Amino acid sequence: MTIRALAAGLAPRQAEADPPSLAIRLWRRSLPNPVGLAAGFDKDAEVPDAMLGFGFGFVEVGTITPLAQPGNPKPRVFRLAEDRAVINRLGFNSAGLAAASRRLAQRGDRGGIVGANIGKNRDTHDDIGDYVEGVRVLAPLVDYLAVNVSSPNTPGLRDLQRKSAVTRLIARLIEARAAAMPRDPPPLLLKIAPDLTAEERADLAEAALASGVDGLIVANTTLARPANLISRFAHEPGGLSGAPLFAPSTALLAEMYRLTSGKLPIIGVGGIASGADAYRKIRAGASLVQLYTALIYEGPGLVPRIKRELAALLARDGFTSITAAVGADAHLPSTTPHGL
Ligand SMILES: Cc1cc2nc3c(=O)[nH]c(=O)nc-3n(C[C@H](O)[C@H](O)[C@H](O)COP(=O)(O)O)c2cc1C
Repeated sequence: MTIRALAAGLAPRQAEADPPSLAIRLWRRSLPNPVGLAAGFDKDAEVPDAMLGFGFGFVEVGTITPLAQPGNPKPRVFRLAEDRAVINRLGFNSAGLAAASRRLAQRGDRGGIVGANIGKNRDTHDDIGDYVEGVRVLAPLVDYLAVNVSSPNTPGLRDLQRKSAVTRLIARLIEARAAAMPRDPPPLLLKIAPDLTAEERADLAEAALASGVDGLIVANTTLARPANLISRFAHEPGGLSGAPLFAPSTALLAEMYRLTSGKLPIIGVGGIASGADAYRKIRAGASLVQLYTALIYEGPGLVPRIKRELAALLARDGFTSITAAVGADAHLPSTTPHGL
């Protein structure tokens, strides 16, 4: 219903301009602020401009699969209101690449940073071929591509995070991107799961650095169920998002930043509901942040609030830009700790 209302033009628009300290330049693109809408809200690229109007600095549409598919049977999304969390097992319900690319092409060059998150069909016989198709069709239409190998709701998908699989997958996608967009190609980002062992994390960091991928998105929803969840839906199968994901996803972000020596820009996502949360992710190593679940509970006023709070925190600590604060809490082996 929300998507329909937004598509019909019933959308709030944030009037105030963003404070200059929130602007950031990354991947040869200029963003007015680092707070983005995470994948899963606008799966079929129906309302990216309405969501930019909420005040987001960038919007990620998708996950888009090559062919249309219905996803899992309903019910498949559960509000854990007492826990400020959601469990979903949507399973990539998607209207498919043709529909999404038509909308993005019609949108044309309206300004505002829009990325597309790509996935594979549940019943495909060619996993990598599905991602290649996404890159081929969408590379000319978006500002970045997010390769989703981390949704918990498509059987086998997360296996693509293994070192050898990542290496093969990214090589094919970089090739497809070059063929589709020889000039100024959009950055290719890998979105990873929070449920990785220490060995898998180290392997993945190494593979990501060697592969030529342009950045990481950390993290998708978790299969873990923290013991302190109180909602009656806590044990529904699916991916958990929202407040309980904040600590584990921020710890993984810090670890990936350290393991990649700060060389790969990271989008931090998971449980952000305030400017302080966004700031924690940035100090842990995120260049940009995204959110979804908190928007469900807080509504559109959340976005300007986070930006106001974030600008105040940067000013309090003497940072004149987001970039200066990225990784301020990180202890990279080769650098002096911040402030010394
Ligand atoms: C209902 C729902 C659907 C989602 N669908 C997708 C998706 O299609 N692709 C994807 O990469 N992530 C998807 N996500 C994960 C979010 O993009 C994000 O990584 C995660 O929810 C953590 O952020 P949050 O705690 O701010 O929601 C979905 C999340 C929710 C709650």
